[in-house]
Amino acid sequence: MYYSQEVLEQVRSSNDIVDVISRYLPLKQKGSSYFGLCPFHNEDTPSFSVSRDRQLFYCFGCGAAGNVISFVMQIEGCDFVDAVKKLADWANITLPEPEFSKEAAEEEKIRKNIYDMHRAAGRFFYEKLHSEEGKTALEYIEKRQIKQNIQKKFGLGYSPKGRDELYRHLKSKGFNDADILKSGLVLENKYGKGYHDRFYDRLMFPIIDLQGRIIGFGGRIMEKGEPKYLNSPETVVFSKKRNLYGLNFAKESKKKEIIICEGYMDMISIYQAGYHNVAASLGTAFNIEHANLLKKLVSDIILVFDSDKAGETAALRAIPILVSAGLRVKVLQVPDGKDPDEFIKLNGSAEFGKLLVDAINYMDFQINCVKKKYNMENDEHRVLFTQEAAKLLSQLESPVERDVYAKKIAMETRISDSAVSDEITKVKEKTDKEFMDKAAIKRIRQYSETSVSDSMQNSKGIQQAQRNLIYLAMNHADVYEKIKNIVKPQDYIDDVYIRLAKFVYEACDKGKNIHPADTVNIFELPDEQKKAAEAFALRLDFESVRDMEKAVNEIVKLIKRTKIDAQVAKADSVEMLTELINEKKKMDNLYIKL
Ligand code: UTP
Ligand code: MN
Repeated sequence: MYYSQEVLEQVRSSNDIVDVISRYLPLKQKGSSYFGLCPFHNEDTPSFSVSRDRQLFYCFGCGAAGNVISFVMQIEGCDFVDAVKKLADWANITLPEPEFSKEAAEEEKIRKNIYDMHRAAGRFFYEKLHSEEGKTALEYIEKRQIKQNIQKKFGLGYSPKGRDELYRHLKSKGFNDADILKSGLVLENKYGKGYHDRFYDRLMFPIIDLQGRIIGFGGRIMEKGEPKYLNSPETVVFSKKRNLYGLNFAKESKKKEIIICEGYMDMISIYQAGYHNVAASLGTAFNIEHANLLKKLVSDIILVFDSDKAGETAALRAIPILVSAGLRVKVLQVPDGKDPDEFIKLNGSAEFGKLLVDAINYMDFQINCVKKKYNMENDEHRVLFTQEAAKLLSQLESPVERDVYAKKIAMETRISDSAVSDEITKVKEKTDKEFMDKAAIKRIRQYSETSVSDSMQNSKGIQQAQRNLIYLAMNHADVYEKIKNIVKPQDYIDDVYIRLAKFVYEACDKGKNIHPADTVNIFELPDEQKKAAEAFALRLDFESVRDMEKAVNEIVKLIKRTKIDAQVAKADSVEMLTELINEKKKMDNLYIKL
């Protein structure tokens, strides 16, 4: 789905980036830029800058970058089209209907149908729950003490016993078999013709995305049986890796932290207990996409896990993922072999609140888990414990934090502070060295072989070279004239820069002036927008034409050589190789004079 470049330019230019960002966070003017605390990572000193003349933002801390549309997408956690709609609304612009490519239109139609089917199914299950058929299900809900307002808020329902009731209901609403199958709500019969519902005789939990749409269901069996919970399969609108149960409600609570628990019922119980900032994983292991999603909403996570071994393992697995996304993590293990739902039923909301307050820092939790394996009265165990703990502590970025924990370990093991610190330093040096060695090996490869690895193509230097050349082409007509036939758009290495170069070169050829911020509009994904914005977020100034000429030559050669090397790696004929080697020689002798 897309809007024309003209529409996007209008929306973008009608929303001054400084004004829009100021709606979300305070900005202070410093010279020609505005600064504030970056909303996309944790920081105490402002490194988030906004330029009014370039209409771009750039964070020196985490590298977030983009124009006003990207900013709204990232801060609101919405997609490109929704951000454009919001901005158009603020500027009182009436948008034309967005346009689609043919395939995109088809895809969008299917998606819309699937959303509609899920809404219809949600209603269907809800009505069934409150009909004669749903009597036992309603009793079950009451037994589990879910209050009426909460049942309603979460849209709980009941999938009836008949094997194709939902299928027939969806047919009666005019949906066709092909689309119904794509929704995952209905399956084809194994033998013979016909269809049957995925869910029957289960208590139904609608899974709702951040835009408030039902995208799937979890269904709990009410008697003994397997599986206890049946979940919707992955579909074009539903991915367990990218969604959490209840996150739509947690987001509304606008807290700085989100509680993450393991199950549907735990999530609902914690919510009912008055802690609305809670979400649950959907029966899959926690992964980096979950973490990134959460990072867009909050700075802190409280992991709440069952007090069994499985809960502990799940917490230990989730911690590094959340920490690597820049989230502050605390852990709460529910005592007495209970899960949160059972604990709250037994002890009440206030007691659960106390557990939340007492949640421990993830590092303490990890160290406690290690400690359980050892007996502190045994000398050998104390040494092993210290070594294992040192490995954990060496991962802490902050020397202050490392020191605090080193002291704790020293106290527990009765080993001296300095010996513990030395151990940490040793581990840290070892891992740093391993890292450096790997980098060194990469470098050697790079010189000894002609082939260029993917990581090389993604290296900072090459990314920067592409950005700088596009920047120079757009801002200096003479540079553009000199390089346009040497580095053509398809000679760029990264897909984003190939598209960006095409756009910029075309504008240059037509003598059309483009605003830096509008170059970001051609991309719809935050990562792509970031790459595009990075080209223009920082000014590239040279003391003299000589300096610029030198830079242009270096950049052009780096890009061309990398591209040629990549092609050499893929070349499958002698002719092709010879041609590429000749081209490389030409490149060595090239000098562009400005
Ligand atoms: P649990 O087995 O711990 O169940 O599964 P629970 O959350 O305590 O549920 P109640 O209280 O018995 O109703 C935890 C989570 O793992 C996923 C579900 O998301 C569940 O909430 N799960 C579990 C499945 O997806 N399928 C299953 O068969 C079991
Ligand atoms: Mn439970």
